[in-house]
Amino acid sequence: MKVNSKNNQLRELYDKVMLPNYSPASFIPERAEGSRLWDKDNKEYIDFGGGIAVNSLGHSHPELVKALADQSKKIWHLSNYLTNEPAIELAERLTKHTFAENIFFSNSGSEANETAIKIARKFHASNNEKRDRIVSFKNSFHGRSLLNISLGSSDMHRDGFEPLMPGIIHGKYNDIDELEKLIDRRTAAVIVEPVQGEAGVFEASKEFMQRLRDITREHNALLIVDEVQSGVGRTGSLYGYMNFDIVPDIITSAKGLGGGIPIGATLTTKTIGKFMQPGTHGSTFGGNPLACSVANKVVEIVSEEGFLTEVKRKEKIFLKFLSELKKDNVISDIRSAGLWIGCDLVKDTAESVLNDSYDKGLIMVSAGANCLRLAPALNIPDEDILKGLEILKEVLGG
Ligand SMILES: Cc1ncc(COP(=O)(O)O)c(C=O)c1O
Repeated sequence: MKVNSKNNQLRELYDKVMLPNYSPASFIPERAEGSRLWDKDNKEYIDFGGGIAVNSLGHSHPELVKALADQSKKIWHLSNYLTNEPAIELAERLTKHTFAENIFFSNSGSEANETAIKIARKFHASNNEKRDRIVSFKNSFHGRSLLNISLGSSDMHRDGFEPLMPGIIHGKYNDIDELEKLIDRRTAAVIVEPVQGEAGVFEASKEFMQRLRDITREHNALLIVDEVQSGVGRTGSLYGYMNFDIVPDIITSAKGLGGGIPIGATLTTKTIGKFMQPGTHGSTFGGNPLACSVANKVVEIVSEEGFLTEVKRKEKIFLKFLSELKKDNVISDIRSAGLWIGCDLVKDTAESVLNDSYDKGLIMVSAGANCLRLAPALNIPDEDILKGLEILKEVLGG
């Protein structure tokens, strides 16, 4: 990168004025369209990161741009003293396509999970049940709020932020035998990711999810499926729980739901949600008409006939190419769930591969020190997939 480039100047300012909790790339994106992005120096990149599974329909999708622009000329914000049509329409759309009957809107995945746990506690408390336990799983990721780092099990995420939320126990993901010991009448809820994305794209087995559903039902514990990363088409189904032939009690959605506009949603049934009466919970921005207008369009497009079949077809293009790299011994394992792919690297660190890829014009994300994570737009053109994969091959020396 040129020494006095616009990227460099801004990046230096970043280090001066921002909290140092992130370590972003050295370039500053200026504009983006579809699965391509250009930086301040007009260099082009292929985007396989998708804003970490957020830009579900790519950048600047014309129909999303129109939805946002049209709504921006009507109403931006109201507060929960007044409701709005886009929020009602989105809630109806989500109930039409899932098991859910009632929706609560927030602004992020963390908030959607906070809401889910509150709904579960309120449900049991209202039924005069004293349940002080939440079951979560090792290597899970549920967000960065204090509740969510307590639900997750990463020492790095927790270090220095204690005390954590009490009453949370962590089981082993995909361990069916252990479930009997983990869940009993003290369990208020179990929260599980259908695919552990931050851990490196590890999918739950169907047997595990079905047994989990059965045991939670036996003990009247609620099953919360964290679909923040897996939802809205990422796995090739509208929601990941649909891959397991189970019906959860609560799901949480965010990331891809807004296609790049912040929104979170917690979806449940009337029987469970009915105790969340006025005054029990709220959010200033949740259900904002701008966010809901865009999310409506996202869900409409992802639910169109044939859209998810295309996601599965595109997944195969990635897998075919990546398995060749595996043969070349630069990748040791590939895991996928739709357009969500984890690749374990043989010798390089994920950080060095990400940096080398930026140099050559490819954006990806990582999952841990040695795993590359791809979560591109669900509508990424085949041409961009192949172009990005050729760059990856060059970087890895396959
Ligand atoms: C499964 C899962 N849950 C929750 C979250 C937290 O979402 P947010 O960062 O929007 O709070 C994430 C974010 O990566 C996630 O992957």
